Amino acid sequence: MKTILITGGAGFIGSHVVRKMVKNHPDMQILNLDQLTYAGNLENLFDIESSPNYSFIHGDITDIPFLEKLFGEHEIDGVIHLAAESHVDRSITDPMSFINTNIVGTVNLLNACRHKWKDVEGKLFYHISTDEVYGSLGSEGLFTEETAYDPRSPYSASKASSDHLVRAYHHTYGLPVVLSNCSNNYGPNQFPEKLIPLAIHNILHMKPIPVYGKGENVRDWLYVEDHASAIELIFSKGVPGRTYNIGGLNEWKNIDLIRLLCGIMDEKLDRVAGTSEKLITFVKDRAGHDLRYAIDSSRIEEELRWKPSLQFEEGLVRTVDWYLKNPEWMENVTSGAYQSYYSKQYGER
Ligand code: NAD
Ligand code: TYD
Repeated sequence: MKTILITGGAGFIGSHVVRKMVKNHPDMQILNLDQLTYAGNLENLFDIESSPNYSFIHGDITDIPFLEKLFGEHEIDGVIHLAAESHVDRSITDPMSFINTNIVGTVNLLNACRHKWKDVEGKLFYHISTDEVYGSLGSEGLFTEETAYDPRSPYSASKASSDHLVRAYHHTYGLPVVLSNCSNNYGPNQFPEKLIPLAIHNILHMKPIPVYGKGENVRDWLYVEDHASAIELIFSKGVPGRTYNIGGLNEWKNIDLIRLLCGIMDEKLDRVAGTSEKLITFVKDRAGHDLRYAIDSSRIEEELRWKPSLQFEEGLVRTVDWYLKNPEWMENVTSGAYQSYYSKQYGER
């Protein structure tokens, strides 16, 4: 039985990956290593926590003695590395935690694998990254796997740095690695500091929806389950040393996306059409705000036969339904640490 370590498995994308791996691979022992920062939440995994092939390990990837003990106690065959600080706005106010977790933490994991994996046959270190490492596009063009790195926020710079280190360990030490760079995800379990769940939260509570600048920045949105399927596929069939871009071919200006979401919420909440749109509030732009991200995912489509399965509107409706059906989840994550972070950043909303 193979043992697979998934880092950041209590977070948004990680919880969908853990669930998929636990359910689809009863022949694999899945270890979920997570520090449970504000973004990690074991409620995301209630339904699978007693599965025989699943265990949770509370720990921090910046803690080297902890990692040495973990790799000493378990024969780990593969790592799917998602643990990270993931929010651009937080990286602007507190870059050091991004340097520590995203760069130093990744190197610690690479070292643990390098020292442990004397025989690399059947081993794989899979690093999950973002399209933000490629920088910002103008109105034309798409990011390919060959696009030069040009990260522009502390978050994307920390992810770019970790990507380079993963590739360096492949070239220098022969560590078997694979990487993927994905566009913006949305769906259930996303912490309500990112645009879509924040807007759902605020619409529900009739609070202002903050839109940065003029709302003209463009993102390519992918439903989280589709990303998790791509990760499962790359982990089993990806070519070591290779990078795969993952995207939704689904570009939206922020303001158009928010208007679409407002329409869906008005219907779901039985509000008069146009009620939620009145909450849209243009606020000061994010510092260094990247204009546009868009992914060319032809490599994964052609080589691994992956495609997004959901239309955006259907994915948004599913997402809204999930948040409306899980008010306790929202209540739990929006109390405590989240509240103090937001009141410090923006005052009460
Ligand atoms: P998230 O913030 O929801 O979850 C991150 C998880 O990592 C949390 O459970 C947190 O507790 C854990 N973690 C943080 N620091 C840790 C540490 N030092 N040790 C152990 N665990 C720690 O993030 P997400 O949105 O699910 O993103 C997961 C990964 O996917 C990240 O690497 C991110 O860069 C990448 N990614 C995210 C998106 C997106 O749209 N969210 C898109 C592309 C790539
Ligand atoms: P976000 O969800 O933070 O993801 P990322 O910055 O990694 O792309 O933001 C998505 C887009 O929405 C981005 O252009 C910034 C914008 N945005 C707002 O306009 N208002 C907000 O309150 C937030 C959080 C984001």
